[in-house]
Amino acid sequence: MPKSLISIHDFTKEEILHILDVAQEFEQNKCQNFLSDKVIATLFFEPSTRTRLSFETAANRLGARVIGFSDAGNTSVSKGETLKDTIKMVSNYVDLIIMRHPLDGSARYASEVASVPVINAGDGANQHPSQTLLDLYTIRQTQGKLTDININMVGDLKYGRTVHSLLQAMSHFSPKFTFTAPDELKMPDEYKDFLDRKGIPYKEETAMEGNINDCDILYMTRVQQERFTDPMEYEKVKNTYSLTASMLKDAKPNMKILHPLPRVTEISQDVDDTPFAYFFKQAENGVYIRMAIIAYLLGYR
Ligand code: CP
Repeated sequence: MPKSLISIHDFTKEEILHILDVAQEFEQNKCQNFLSDKVIATLFFEPSTRTRLSFETAANRLGARVIGFSDAGNTSVSKGETLKDTIKMVSNYVDLIIMRHPLDGSARYASEVASVPVINAGDGANQHPSQTLLDLYTIRQTQGKLTDININMVGDLKYGRTVHSLLQAMSHFSPKFTFTAPDELKMPDEYKDFLDRKGIPYKEETAMEGNINDCDILYMTRVQQERFTDPMEYEKVKNTYSLTASMLKDAKPNMKILHPLPRVTEISQDVDDTPFAYFFKQAENGVYIRMAIIAYLLGYR
């Protein structure tokens, strides 16, 4: 089976650091052309702006050609074709598959039936490893290091696949965590158990106030309406947090606000003009990291 990126655990610490270093080279030299004989598929069974477009930009900047879909409703999935058949068939067309799917575990399953590498671009509430690598890249870019970083994760920590992947990746670098979430959206026990086993400290809070000034990274997340089965539950928690510029007056000078995006109401627009806002540059970094992941999985770097 070819090497895929489904969970952040699929890469060792050394591989993670290698990807970050290659991404840094690509940021300095954005146009490479060594994949001109490759075809890459982007199969998005769930909406996306950044992940799909940055993967496609990355593939184009490496010289590869891209096929795929952003709406499975226009494919034979709507006629009842299974994920297995779709993946097996696309495997015969391309050199690498990038897939987003609403079901937890679907990406692992796809990698087991594919004959080419698969990159998980997000599977349900489970994992989003390319987002995690770009988050690590951005943390290192803003803090000058990955070790001993104090991260406050805020918002939907229950369904947020980006925080789950990031927590696991940061476990290589002796972090400290604060988890700020309403009771309904707390960090699931399996991730807290993981930290306990690794001896990594964390505290849980429900209010943002009083928990911003000591962090290096404030990792905001959206409450994800699409993950709720009960609309009333979503209504109850959707506006729990709203970060405004006035809340940042005593933040550490090195502190940066990250967000996987899209944002809704959890970061007010006035935050964008503060020196702490870094989420648009974070999204740009996605191109360089995804160039590095593609190059690595295809055996070029
Ligand atoms: N961060 C992220 O996954 O954004 P998209 O949903 O727009 O791809």
